[in-house]
Amino acid sequence: MKRARLPIVVIGSGVAGMATALAAAPAPVRLLCRAADGSGSASALAQGGIAAAVGAGDSPAAHVHDTLEAGSRHNDAAAVRWLCEAAPATVDWLAAQGAAFDRTDAGALQLGREGGHGAHRIVHAGGDATGAALVRALRAKVARAEHVQWRGGVDVDALLLRAGGVVGVRTRDAQGRHEVIEAAAVVLATGGLGALYAHTSNPPGADGAGLALALAAGAQARDLEFVQFHPTALALDGHSLPLLTEALRGAGARLIDGEGRALMAGRHPLGDLAPRDVVARRVWSVQQAGGSAWLDATPIEGDWQRRFPTVLASCLAHGLDPRRERLPITPVAHFHMGGVAADLDGQTSIPGLCAVGEVACNGVHGANRLASNSLLEAVAGGRRLGARLATAAPLPASGGHHWIERGAALPPENLHALRELLWQAAGPVREAAALRDAWRLCAAAAATGWQMRLAKELLRAMRLRRRSLGAHWREDRGCPAGSQAT
Ligand code: SIN
Repeated sequence: MKRARLPIVVIGSGVAGMATALAAAPAPVRLLCRAADGSGSASALAQGGIAAAVGAGDSPAAHVHDTLEAGSRHNDAAAVRWLCEAAPATVDWLAAQGAAFDRTDAGALQLGREGGHGAHRIVHAGGDATGAALVRALRAKVARAEHVQWRGGVDVDALLLRAGGVVGVRTRDAQGRHEVIEAAAVVLATGGLGALYAHTSNPPGADGAGLALALAAGAQARDLEFVQFHPTALALDGHSLPLLTEALRGAGARLIDGEGRALMAGRHPLGDLAPRDVVARRVWSVQQAGGSAWLDATPIEGDWQRRFPTVLASCLAHGLDPRRERLPITPVAHFHMGGVAADLDGQTSIPGLCAVGEVACNGVHGANRLASNSLLEAVAGGRRLGARLATAAPLPASGGHHWIERGAALPPENLHALRELLWQAAGPVREAAALRDAWRLCAAAAATGWQMRLAKELLRAMRLRRRSLGAHWREDRGCPAGSQAT
């Protein structure tokens, strides 16, 4: 008797997961995510746009150059070339899916510029609401796609392995009920891990759960030490904080200290548009010295509702009017360049297990991601992976199987303490003794929850890289930055 075709299981409902699911047609796909209504992805919060060399005088080669520079040339150059060359077609594909990019009166794409880019090459949809616009467009497509079965409100807490390959998942719903799904392939599209830090621009669900599951199964990791901190989130009490997009500075907003002096004066030739890690460290050091940092967006002229609807709404919701007053800022954990090691086809070191988007590390971002390359990579990578899986043969169906579980989560008070620990020891500025002490704490408490084990691996990678590179900044007491040993 012919066996029914097993589905491809995609975990995560951000743009990486949805692009993978759509591109896998006509292969059957089960798209799983934690939020009951499919919300909660970092994609939906993305205020930056999509970088693509589509403007006059620009070229993929120039985009490659800027991506490598931002990444401190730690990037995989072939991966960067692939991404930058794929960018224009990715924008076209998204437009064909219904993404309404911002256009000039003549119908051309409006091109913005962000930090680290040598040209105007950022396309937006709905001003600073690009991520939300893309998620809406792709979700509508997914809802109509007959090959995709979508299921929200479930967490994937275990992988099924057979003969060394991943052949299924176990889900758990809010009532604690389990379901086993055998799969032709399992795709992690679970996003980053900013929510493991005390302050982040990520949603609470971006906690590294997919990475932790892959590590538990023995998948290789890569570049775990590289976590990007965004310099300008609204400094409120709380964990998941509203971002104040870098595009505000591109449009004329200024960084100032508590006395109104230019924060970046004499610090970097690009001033307020210096690379993200440079600005984040500056804001961090002002805060550590007991001072405060602010973004003055009042010089921005024009239609805030059209250009910055997300920033305007989130500031107003907290009683601040960015058109009239300066805004208190703080750095936040924003993007994980490292992750599950994968090739450009999304293949990890374990047969049957794929990774795409922020949870994956294929070397494209190097030691620091260039602005507006993340949605781009998620969509381009998802399309490439989905197309490959559409025709891939499933793993052999024989042999004994076993389960790999992620394990129990930390109790809330311990999770809170871990976030504070990572914020202090593994934040924008790191030093040997703090990394060592934090690693020891996590190692001793590894049995208390999967987040502790994941943090231990992050700290291990941070300790091993003894010199500063990109977003990984070592400033060990008594030694000049980047020259010290652990
Ligand atoms: C921003 O809008 O400042 C963030 C964009 C990005 O992370 O690429």
